[in-house]
Amino acid sequence: MKVTRRQFASGFLGTGVLLGLSACSNAVSTSAPDTASFSPTPVATTGRLRKLVLEARPAQVDLGGRVVTTWAYGDSIPGTMLRATAGDRVQVAFKNNLPVPTSVHWHGLAISNAMDGVPGVTTSETPAGGSFDFDFVIPDAGTHWFHPHHPMQLDRGLYAPFIVDDPHEPGAYDTEWILVMDDWTDGVGTSPDQILAQLLAKSGGGMGGMDMGGMGGMDMGADGGDVTYPLYLVNGRAPSDPQTLAAKPGQRVRLRIINSSADTIFTVALAGHDLQITHTDGYPIQPVSTASLRIGMGERYDAIVTLKDGVFPFVAEPLGKLGIARALVRTGGGAVPAASFKPSELTGEPLTVASLSAAAGTALQPREPDTTQDLALGGGMANYEWTINGATYQNATPLTIKAGQAGRLRITNATMMSHPIHLHGHTFQIGAAGGTGPRKDTVLVPPMGAVNVDLVADNPGKWMVHCHNAYHAEAGMMTRLDYAT
Ligand code: C2O
Ligand code: CU
Repeated sequence: MKVTRRQFASGFLGTGVLLGLSACSNAVSTSAPDTASFSPTPVATTGRLRKLVLEARPAQVDLGGRVVTTWAYGDSIPGTMLRATAGDRVQVAFKNNLPVPTSVHWHGLAISNAMDGVPGVTTSETPAGGSFDFDFVIPDAGTHWFHPHHPMQLDRGLYAPFIVDDPHEPGAYDTEWILVMDDWTDGVGTSPDQILAQLLAKSGGGMGGMDMGGMGGMDMGADGGDVTYPLYLVNGRAPSDPQTLAAKPGQRVRLRIINSSADTIFTVALAGHDLQITHTDGYPIQPVSTASLRIGMGERYDAIVTLKDGVFPFVAEPLGKLGIARALVRTGGGAVPAASFKPSELTGEPLTVASLSAAAGTALQPREPDTTQDLALGGGMANYEWTINGATYQNATPLTIKAGQAGRLRITNATMMSHPIHLHGHTFQIGAAGGTGPRKDTVLVPPMGAVNVDLVADNPGKWMVHCHNAYHAEAGMMTRLDYAT
């Protein structure tokens, strides 16, 4: 069955077509919006309704021998994983048991704008003690995640995977492991709100230069991010007490790797193994083998590995910062390497987005852009302000496009740091010289570098475009792409 792409359930009946949603008792017939020349891409639906529940609340979590109080989805970090199949209608009953208002953004799900979870733009904030019923159809499979669209809450424990299975997945693997990396300070070092206050105070000129002595604080602001963290985690565990992932030698494992950090780019590797990278941000790529991989905040990569016999750390090394995060893969006997062990796979140049191409059938139709727009990234540490096209979000003029148009964003970076730029509600295609770059929703733009991305305006609304460094987003590096049907 085909339905209009991405419109949410209560209004997604196409002209004169009644959808037989078996589990959907309250489907009502409405007329399709006037789409004039705009014809949305159809979505194959499964006809299935999934009812999910999610709660945000204060929680005590064990980081591996160290119990901290933080905010989480449920009682662990990462929080409660949600899972569905592409084409499912999903209802998430969300309850906010935090002492403050919050929001939930479904990062990577190109769903209807009203469900996008950006307070003040798409979806109202959920007050302390309040609840919100999300209701959307998921168009695309992939490794996705969710978090508050309140950046300083993201730097606490509020993040979790959202895995969307492909109904046509060939499934050529024996098992699957989800690996979520995070940079951690809450309850160990300075709180995210205090760090932000220090960064902003520094820009005022008076309060700068506090040395946090590795307890969570300001960093140099080069490519290593703006904040030093006392801990880096894989699946909520410190490197001294990592999670063990057990399997048998010879098994093929699908790794779903998510960087949920606020301020840390990682290079990842599995000791003794090559990673065959198969997807990024949910979309298939031409598979490519690598010893190590660079992953920015908000990005996801899937990889297949065939396991050897023994004990092998999966290590995530923070770019430009001290320490590591890790999990342990165990398929046989052997001693566990020291908590600081870095596999030799991390010594070479990591794979980056620049050498990836879209898998056959997933590229956008080749098409000259109807509109080309600039997204110039600026700002710096001296005056703690980060901008797009010279303005912070408060003063930004949103980009616009017309529904149905092909658009190109020319992203340029005039700063000394990488910025992971994320667009809501769409996947774009990375421009590649002489080829077809991967489909993604988040792209690392290198220091003093540039990236062109192409998109089709097939999901009308007000869509955030921003840096996924939580501190940069909070300090202004956000704008929007707005269009109506
Ligand atoms: Cu993952 Cu606007 O964010
Ligand atoms: Cu940034």
